[in-house]
Amino acid sequence: MSTSSIDSLLHENRRFAPSPEFAAAAVAQPALYDDARADRHAFWADRARELHWHTPFTQTLDWSNAPFARWFADGTLNVAYNCLDRHVLAGNGDRVAFHWEGEPGDTRTLTYAELTREVKRAANMLAGLGIGQGDRVAIYLPVIPEAVIAMLAIARLGAIHSVIFGGFSAESIRARVEDADAKLVITADGGWRKGRVFPLKGAVDAGLAAAESSVEHVLVVRRGENEVEWTAGRDLWWHEQLEGVSDDHEAEAFEAENPLFILYTSGTTGKPKGILHTSGGYLTQVAFTHKNVFDLKPETDVYWCTADVGWITGHSYVVYGPLANGATQVLYEGTPDTPHPGRWWELIAKYGVTQFYTAPTAIRSCMKLGREIPQSFDLSSLRVLGSVGEPINPEAWVWYRDIIGGGTTPIVDTWWQTETGGIMISALPGITTTKPGSAQVPIPGISVDVLDDDGVHVGKEASGLLVITEPWPSMLRGIWGDPDRFVDTYWSKFAGAPKGPLYFAGDGAHLDGDGDVQLLGRVDDVMNVSGHRLSTMEIESALVSHPIVAEAAVVGASDDTTGQAVVAFVILRAKKAATVTATEASVMLRAHVAEQIGAIARPREIFVVAELPKTRSGKIMRRLLQDIAEGREIGDTTTLTDVNVVQSIRTDLG
Ligand code: WTA
Repeated sequence: MSTSSIDSLLHENRRFAPSPEFAAAAVAQPALYDDARADRHAFWADRARELHWHTPFTQTLDWSNAPFARWFADGTLNVAYNCLDRHVLAGNGDRVAFHWEGEPGDTRTLTYAELTREVKRAANMLAGLGIGQGDRVAIYLPVIPEAVIAMLAIARLGAIHSVIFGGFSAESIRARVEDADAKLVITADGGWRKGRVFPLKGAVDAGLAAAESSVEHVLVVRRGENEVEWTAGRDLWWHEQLEGVSDDHEAEAFEAENPLFILYTSGTTGKPKGILHTSGGYLTQVAFTHKNVFDLKPETDVYWCTADVGWITGHSYVVYGPLANGATQVLYEGTPDTPHPGRWWELIAKYGVTQFYTAPTAIRSCMKLGREIPQSFDLSSLRVLGSVGEPINPEAWVWYRDIIGGGTTPIVDTWWQTETGGIMISALPGITTTKPGSAQVPIPGISVDVLDDDGVHVGKEASGLLVITEPWPSMLRGIWGDPDRFVDTYWSKFAGAPKGPLYFAGDGAHLDGDGDVQLLGRVDDVMNVSGHRLSTMEIESALVSHPIVAEAAVVGASDDTTGQAVVAFVILRAKKAATVTATEASVMLRAHVAEQIGAIARPREIFVVAELPKTRSGKIMRRLLQDIAEGREIGDTTTLTDVNVVQSIRTDLG
């Protein structure tokens, strides 16, 4: 991270202490920190006991086979039962689970009793299609109630879901379905986005046509009412399959370590990794963090997390955490600006949203549109505002608090990852005095550190690499089918630590004078575009898979709105280069990347160049390319083989 970024973080020196009224009524109380410090295992065991266990656990953590953790391993539970039946049995069946709003304005309300019935029917239907414990089911859906129902029905059966974000391409579906050997795919004809139906099933068809797959059926939810192709025998309508199916379904208990889901995420290599999460520990941490970080009062609150269920934030803070806590939520299918730029704020006013959780990119986009838009809606119901997915710049933080939060709501900047499963570093509202632009403190029960490359603690007012020093309940249990990659990616950098292996997060961090943690962005080849994780290597592989490309280098260039933007440098194959102009090549390659990975990975710019700067050992100097992409004076070129390359790129770029 450049020093200029740290400077910008430090320019905002204001501190925001919780109000005495908020603190007095807050869910999170300071004793949580003391309890966790006194006995971390007992602390997490107490949190776990807030769930319903079919068989209580007697063992908290088994770390004997580190880094493969087992939490609450001799206990059994059913995750869906904890999110549904439990609330109905406690007399809260009439509480709204979801106020769902479709982009065109159609709505659907589901109470806990209704959602429980829907999930039971779906579980019976899926069981009828042969889905049982351990089977993998891929989900490729818009943000509609069926997405949540499908996830919970799969969980209820002890099967494993793999949700694929609806913006990913056919090729991404193929790779994920193949890697997990999915037996069933659940999709929709289409969904609504930006005022139009975008087709989904076609991508599944194309993905499966190319896959060496074990998929027996494709279940199709009707949403877009758009035309779809149909493969007789394989394809089934979701609503037809549900006809006449019983809503009586008893939840079976599964071991705490029964896998719950796989979620693919970008790493530093070309191939996305299937992050594996299991049941008891995961549910414990997402429920605890959701309740305490968002100050959830389930009887009265209306919570809204804008994440798509295709990302980890949607898994943990739309589906599992909030439902485990019996929360009432808003679930919205579409984009923030359709049909008008105040759509989100309109929904907050309409439903009286009390907690709102979104990404800095979205906040920055709203800032650009001007404060008049949110200010024309009544946002006074908001009590807590959350941020996730990328570092939030102090300016956006303060705007969020002042304009959306009326200058009073606590902001929780939550740092975590697909791999961590749940929130790891965040202020707790009512306790923490917040600092704009800083995630600040590990939540109770979590231990982190900032180390230099040699594994030495950096001390205050210094920067280094973020590590997690103790195992945590919602930690990933591995990478699907690749235990070596799991050990290598996360646990090898600081393997020799005296107290056992440390988890290397891949993020840079700064410890301020109080010892609080400010996140500085990724230190590896992972980019963060609009809060979405992308791998430079993955995009480079996509580019070189095109016949006209000889070589490609991708960097994340800083971008005012999206945080980072994908910028690619490509060398064309000599013969092909003669047949296309640089502009044609760039148009073609942008489309090619969208097709290979998804529109979110489409480069903002592609520069056709004659050479790429390399070190003497042949490594592409991405940092240099980043300087060029961001229009900066270039940094240290002492290890560059040929300084003229940079000049030639500059000339190529005009
Ligand atoms: C980044 C999203 C700064 C970080 C939940 C991390 C953040 C990556 C924050 C994980 C935050 C997430 N401040 N950076 N509050 N939250 N990140 O797996 O670089 O999609 O490693 O999980 O996002 O992205 P992922």
